[in-house]
Amino acid sequence: MSGQPARSWDALQAAAGLPRLDARALLEHVSARPREWLVAHGDEPADARVAERFDALAARRRAGEPLAYLTGYREFFGRRFAVDRHVLVPRPETEGLVEAALSRLPARAAAALRVLDLGTGSGVIAITLALARPDLQLSATDASASALACAQVNAARLSAPPIDWHQGDWWAALPAQTPRFDMVVSNPPYLADSDPHLDDPALRHEPAGALACGPQGLEAIEQIVATVCAHLLPGGWLLLEHGCEQGSAVRDRLLQAGLSEVATLPDLQGLDRISLGRRPVHA
Ligand SMILES: C[S@@+](CC[C@H](N)C(=O)[O-])C[C@H]1O[C@@H](n2cnc3c(N)ncnc32)[C@H](O)[C@@H]1O
Repeated sequence: MSGQPARSWDALQAAAGLPRLDARALLEHVSARPREWLVAHGDEPADARVAERFDALAARRRAGEPLAYLTGYREFFGRRFAVDRHVLVPRPETEGLVEAALSRLPARAAAALRVLDLGTGSGVIAITLALARPDLQLSATDASASALACAQVNAARLSAPPIDWHQGDWWAALPAQTPRFDMVVSNPPYLADSDPHLDDPALRHEPAGALACGPQGLEAIEQIVATVCAHLLPGGWLLLEHGCEQGSAVRDRLLQAGLSEVATLPDLQGLDRISLGRRPVHA
């Protein structure tokens, strides 16, 4: 026993040195109490062990660790995905990528449409697509075995339809003779290795291999785009998330690869975020 007087839930939050929403989320997590309960009982003394755990997590948050790693989850498309330090914390921009993918998939097809998520991380893209369209045949890859393990946990917890998981370097992860896809979606690493944002305390905690890729940040995108036509059915789509200053460079790569209907879509802030193209039906 420390002999200190018990602090109230409100006092803990107020002294955390964090934005109110972060402090509230951490308190909900450590106390396992819903927001409404904490509001109604804010002036009551907090359990000492919970208070200690809250202080420890608040200190890690002040040092820049993403909230999602501290609570162990992040919401994506209204669902709770488990995340850990082996996977990128899913970003709201990526919900736009999923929406763009869904809006380009025909409502019905003679055979199950085949969709691939390259660099799946926590699995948010593949799992959200599979849950939105259980008629799709989903595959997902990642170079990281730990990321794939996290994605598989999420798929099981969210009762997603079956997804084929493959570990390896971009296209090389796919078994030989894998049939072509109707759509390939990817949010690859796209920061340059020297990007000063990588020094940001928040990004320092995320896996380097999920964030940065080569001197220009375009290397992963180039690897994916270079041979995409060998993996797409005629009329099949490629959709890529990228940095807000990379739209023109990514469109160039898509055109060089022979894709048609090449375009860039903005994110909610109006910034270039997703570029896409389609393998011509008659090449
Ligand atoms: C920006 S994260 C995206 C994760 C997830 N799709 C999302 O949107 O939250 C990029 C992912 O690509 C994976 N990755 C990096 N290099 C790769 C490679 N050479 N082959 C396959 N996956 C790779 C990383 O492990 C990481 O999970």
